[in-house]
Amino acid sequence: MSNSKAKVEHVVVPGTFDPVTLGHLDVIMRARRLFGQVTVAVAASVGKRGTGPSFSLGERVEMISEALAAEGVDDVEVKPFSGLLVDFCRAEGADAVVKGLRAMTDFEYELQQADLNCHLAPELESVFVMSSPEYGYVSSSIVREISSMGASVQMLVPPNVNERLKERFGGAARE
Ligand code: PNS
Repeated sequence: MSNSKAKVEHVVVPGTFDPVTLGHLDVIMRARRLFGQVTVAVAASVGKRGTGPSFSLGERVEMISEALAAEGVDDVEVKPFSGLLVDFCRAEGADAVVKGLRAMTDFEYELQQADLNCHLAPELESVFVMSSPEYGYVSSSIVREISSMGASVQMLVPPNVNERLKERFGGAARE
């Protein structure tokens, strides 16, 4: 017997994406396989700030859009947001938030955010997908850090992001 009322149709994949990595793209693509409509929400504020300079909100949105277009993905919207994630999700009419989990170290942080979001918007579900093993160690802060030190990150980010990082940090020592 079908339970059509229980379907999650529209999901938001939020993050700071500073910059977007292959791990993020993996989560976005998996959300796209699971749900009917996917919106990527790029936070204006930077949460888990690591080392190295950050990209502007416009650049972060642009890099994700370019990377998705390069993969031939034209059915995922990429939008900036400021303020609370739950307000953005309500305005978008989204049913759930999708995030990736890499390791136990992510769990506590993500649980805290999911609990808070649940308190603020009980109707909004949080759904987690386990990151693919090859991206378990990939993070934006690691990309910024090793890129700023001149090492290649081409195995960690989409080609357009690699180009931006080369522009920013210089490409001589990389590749
Ligand atoms: O890439 P990140 O650091 O995991 O993304 C964190 C993000 C942007 C999803 C989170 O910081 C967020 O939702 N920020 C918006 C402000 C908000 O709603 N805060 C309350 C929930 S933590």
